[in-house]
Amino acid sequence: MKTNNQELVRVESLTKHFTLGGSFLNKKQEIIRAVENLSFTVYKGETLGIVGESGCGKSTTGRLLLRLMEATSGSVYFEGENVLEYSKEQLRAKRKDFQMIFQDPYASLNPRMTVEELISEPLRTYKVQNRKERLLKLVDAVGIPKDYLTRYPHEFSGGQRQRIGIARSLALNPKFIVADEPVAALDVSIQAQIINLMKDLQDEFDLTYLFIAHDLSVIEYISDRIAVMYLGGIVELTSSERLYEKPLHPYTQALISAIPIPDPTISRDRIKLFGDIPSPMNPPAGCKFHTRCPLAQDICKQAIPELREVEPEHFVACHLVEESLL
Ligand SMILES: Nc1ncnc2c1ncn2[C@@H]1O[C@H](COP(=O)(O)OP(=O)(O)OP(=O)(O)O)[C@@H](O)[C@H]1O
Ligand code: SF4
Ligand SMILES: [Mg+2]
Repeated sequence: MKTNNQELVRVESLTKHFTLGGSFLNKKQEIIRAVENLSFTVYKGETLGIVGESGCGKSTTGRLLLRLMEATSGSVYFEGENVLEYSKEQLRAKRKDFQMIFQDPYASLNPRMTVEELISEPLRTYKVQNRKERLLKLVDAVGIPKDYLTRYPHEFSGGQRQRIGIARSLALNPKFIVADEPVAALDVSIQAQIINLMKDLQDEFDLTYLFIAHDLSVIEYISDRIAVMYLGGIVELTSSERLYEKPLHPYTQALISAIPIPDPTISRDRIKLFGDIPSPMNPPAGCKFHTRCPLAQDICKQAIPELREVEPEHFVACHLVEESLL
């Protein structure tokens, strides 16, 4: 593992409920429990992957950590300070330390700005010295030729646009980056180039990543540790190697059993999950996975399983995890 176990971000009991309705016309109020009681640490220099099916709360988690959205409750400590308690001024000053890379670089880049303007904008906003020098260093680092600085986003391919988006995110020399599905919109052949670029930049710029993806192969390739999410909570968290070698939560076991193996001589028993993910408006009581879990017992319907360290650095939220360990 790349980490030296020096904590950069610590999340404690983070919860986000969205409230829908409750207006004059739409009286019925509904609560979407997007993220509930999340606790985890991101170590300096590592890539922590977050994986899970659509709607499980990955993007909400990323946005809450960067305070792009206000939490319902909980804490997010960045270098020991609770970001959720920052005033607007404190947040503005700290913002340069944490940045986001988006899934769709086209939507996140102003189409009327040239590459030079796009990357220089944060430098100007924060009155960074030697802007031209920094700009040239950034475009060089992400592999955009200098002759392209006067061009507009529509003149680039998806992969090149993501390179521009990455350069913009790195402009202010951040310490922590949340990358929300940064390669999901790209052709498979381009995905590896961007992921390798992100790995190189991590070493060059001393970055820590929270990398969100729904693709298990992508997440395995880039992550040092991986958190698996289901319906707004973490069900398993451990090193990338351990997760793929010995997944302990029945949900992770099912996800991993569904990854295609390129070698036709090797077969793997696929664990089929029945039913759809329940709605976060009305999540099941007890273990939220019990409606789809092949191992569910009575206790699973009644008690919420805590995320417990069941072997060193391996956290699992399942009442019956000891049986998987045998
Ligand atoms: N602004 C919002 N208002 C109301 N509900 C929201 C809002 N943002 C997200 N949600 C709901 O919160 C839940 C978690 O959404 P989120 O976008 O975090 O999931 P995700 O894991 O990123 O999914 P995907 O893989 O599709 O990107 C979903 O049920 C979603 O519909
Ligand atoms: S607690 Fe029960 S329902 Fe939940 S994952 Fe474990 S065995 Fe399945
Ligand atoms: Mg998302």
